[in-house]
Amino acid sequence: MSSETAFTYRDGWFCCEDASLIDIAARFGTPAYVYSRAAIAARFAAYRRSLRGIPNRVCYAVKANSNIAILQLLASLGAGFDIVSGGELFRVLAAGADPATVVFSGVGKTREEIDFALARGIHSFNCESADELALLAEIAGRRNTTASVALRVNPDVDAITHPYISTGLKEHKFGIDIAVVESVYRRMARYPRLAATGVSCHIGSQLLSIAPLIEAADKMIALVARLRAAGFPIRHLDLGGGLGVSYRPTETAADIDEFISRLRPRLASDIELMLEPGRSIIAEAGILLSRVLFEKQNGSKTFVIVDAGMNDLIRPTLYHAHHEITPVEQSPLPPRIADIVGPVCETGDFFARDREIVPLAPGSLIAIRTAGAYGFVLASNYNSRPRPVELLVDGAEVHVIRRRETYDDLLRGEQLV
Ligand SMILES: Cc1ncc(COP(=O)(O)O)c(C=O)c1O
Repeated sequence: MSSETAFTYRDGWFCCEDASLIDIAARFGTPAYVYSRAAIAARFAAYRRSLRGIPNRVCYAVKANSNIAILQLLASLGAGFDIVSGGELFRVLAAGADPATVVFSGVGKTREEIDFALARGIHSFNCESADELALLAEIAGRRNTTASVALRVNPDVDAITHPYISTGLKEHKFGIDIAVVESVYRRMARYPRLAATGVSCHIGSQLLSIAPLIEAADKMIALVARLRAAGFPIRHLDLGGGLGVSYRPTETAADIDEFISRLRPRLASDIELMLEPGRSIIAEAGILLSRVLFEKQNGSKTFVIVDAGMNDLIRPTLYHAHHEITPVEQSPLPPRIADIVGPVCETGDFFARDREIVPLAPGSLIAIRTAGAYGFVLASNYNSRPRPVELLVDGAEVHVIRRRETYDDLLRGEQLV
C-alpha cells in the first residue's frame, strides 16, 4: 500500500488505511500524528526490491522519526539503523533491534556516547575528524575491543536542496575533505584498535534529483578503489540518505529504482552498499491531524486558526517547507485563499500562507500531509504546549504508540527552590 492509497477519501471522509480520521480525532483528540503501518512497510520494501542482487544494508535514519514502535516495525522488516546520538541508540535497543545493525554517524560524538556504542557492539562508526578517531581509539583500547570505522567523506557535491539540509559542500561542517581523506586513512593505521572497513558520505536531504547522488557515488567509488589499491580492506560503501519526497503535487519524488539502477553497474560485486534513508521511508506515511478552532479576518487576510502549532510541526517555519492540507470532510464548496496558522505566539507559527482551501468551519478537521519525517521528532513544548499523541494505524486498528503529554509531563524534572 503506497502513501496515496494509505490516505484516501472514503464516502467523503478522509481515512488512514481502514480507519476514519474523524473517528480517530473523536477517540484520541487532536493534534495527533497518525502513521500508516502499510505505507512505511511499502517504502522499506521498495528499497529492498530495488537492491536485490546487491550486497546491502538499509540503515533507517532514526532522526527522521524515532518512535520506538516505528523502529520496532522497521527492525522486524530487516532494517538496520543509522544513529546520531546515544539517545537514538537507547531507542533502537528499547525497540528490540540488534545493535550489530547500527551505524553511528554524527559530527560531535561524546566520550560517553562512544563508550555506550562500543559496549553494545554496534556495526561501525562513521567518523568525521582526526580528533574523533583518537578518542574512539582510546576508548576502544580501554574496552579491549576493535572499532570498525568508515570515514565520512565530504565529497564537495552540491545536493541542490534547502541550504539547512545540504551537507556535502566543502564549506559545511560535515565530513572530511575528499582531498585529504586518504592521508587520514593512512594515519588511522597507527591505531591498532581501529579497523578501517568502510567509507561513507551523506550530501543532504530532500534531494529530488538523482544526479548529485550519482556524482557523489562516483567520487566515493573511485576513493574505494584507491584505498583498496593502497591495501585498506574496505568492505562497505555507505552513501547516506537523502532521497526526496513529494511535498506538493507539482513535485516528483526521487525514484528509488532509478537511483539504484544507475548505481548498480558502478558497484564492485564485493562491496556492501549501505544506505541511510530517513525521510523517504517515513515522510509520506504520516499526517498531522488538527482541528479548526476559529476563523478570523484581519484586513484583507483570512486566518484559519487550528489547534496544532509550530511546536508540533516546525518545518513550515524552519525551512519554509510546503505541506499539503486536506480537509477531513470532503467539501463541495469552492476554495478561497487563507492562511492556516497555529495558536503559538509567533508570526512564524503557520502551516500554509495564502493557500487555496475550502472554507473550514470551527470544529472541522484537517490533515497536514507528509508529516511523518522530521515532524514529531522536532516537536517541542514551546508555549508550554503538551506534545501530541502518536498513532500507528494498521488496517482498521489504531495503536497509541506515544500517549499525548499531560500538564504533569510539562513539569517533569523541574523543581522549585
Ligand atoms: C548522516 C545522515 N544520514 C542519513 C540522513 C537521513 O537523510 P534523509 O532523511 O534525507 O534520508 C541524514 C539526515 O540529515 C544524515 O545526516
